[in-house]
Amino acid sequence: MPVPSQLFPTPPIGPAIKPSSQQPNPSLWLWSVDIYTALILSFFLHLTLTSTTLINYPTMVSSTEMVIVLFSLLTISLPLMMSDTASAGTFYKDFDITWGDGRGKIVDNGKLLTLSLDHTSGSGFESKKEFLFGKIDMELKLVPGNSAGTVTAYYLSSQGPTHDEIDFEFLGNLTGDPYTLHTNVFSQGKGNREQQFKLWFDPTKDFHRYSILWNQNNIIFYVDDTPIRDFRNNEAKGTPFPNSQPMKIYSSLWNADDWATRGGRVKTDWTKAPFTASYRNFKADVSTTPNSGWVNQALDSTGQERMRMMQKNYMIYNYCTDLKRFPQGLPQECSIA
Ligand SMILES: *[C@@H]1O[C@H](CO)[C@@H](O)[C@H](O)[C@H]1NC(C)=O
Repeated sequence: MPVPSQLFPTPPIGPAIKPSSQQPNPSLWLWSVDIYTALILSFFLHLTLTSTTLINYPTMVSSTEMVIVLFSLLTISLPLMMSDTASAGTFYKDFDITWGDGRGKIVDNGKLLTLSLDHTSGSGFESKKEFLFGKIDMELKLVPGNSAGTVTAYYLSSQGPTHDEIDFEFLGNLTGDPYTLHTNVFSQGKGNREQQFKLWFDPTKDFHRYSILWNQNNIIFYVDDTPIRDFRNNEAKGTPFPNSQPMKIYSSLWNADDWATRGGRVKTDWTKAPFTASYRNFKADVSTTPNSGWVNQALDSTGQERMRMMQKNYMIYNYCTDLKRFPQGLPQECSIA
């Protein structure tokens, strides 16, 4: 078992480049509003011209016709613009590609985001908004085939030396060998709370939903709505809990073949590059009305039983049982059921 604290260097924060090719869409809506205004104006202009020209200046009919042509063109283009607008999706609205010089892309009208990695660089994105609590879902499809040495990090993090962080990290593997799902929670700048899992499906064949439920009482990690980890608020017993620093959502695809796969013994096969991971169906429920389920959500006994089963069958590392690593005693939160 490799030393988990070395397993998790902070993902590289790339330069804040926003290639111009990646910022087209938020203006689409405004654009079609403009078109719509023009349409209404031209309609009235058309009416005015028609009535005045036909009555007073029959020779100007040709310009009236021009207006009619313009009007028809706009009428035809409007539905096209509107349909584009309606689906100018969440990724344009909610995220910025922050590094990777074009290797991160928002496609399919904003419904799909892809990150890629080659020998020169990986890529990454972050949310425009910050969150303080919420239920956050994202569907990911990981790098297929030989993904050894690649790491897809998907996490929430605040800023600064005493930052909080909630991590999902996917460590690639050789074709046919299982990915490792690595999780961690940082509070007040301190992490070292790794739990790792195998997955019970091939995460590269289809999209699967990875969710974080974060409220005052706990942070629950879900995979396809199945709870795998529950980090409770044990502030009263002296373990800081992330509850005051807003976090952004980040993701990056990068190379870490010095440690990621079998502790660094399996290197990335660059002949298979570029490596690509995909994201879709982002959803952040942050509404705090009394009936927002997530605000007071905790695992009931069925949920806890389910989580224990998943941990029994799929957990491959748990800091809370690593006595070698904590000779002075396990972290305080480990002793609380
Ligand atoms: C890769 O596969 C090997 C062999 O099954 C396994 O020991 C290892 O935990 C897997 N994951 C990583 C990230 O190395």
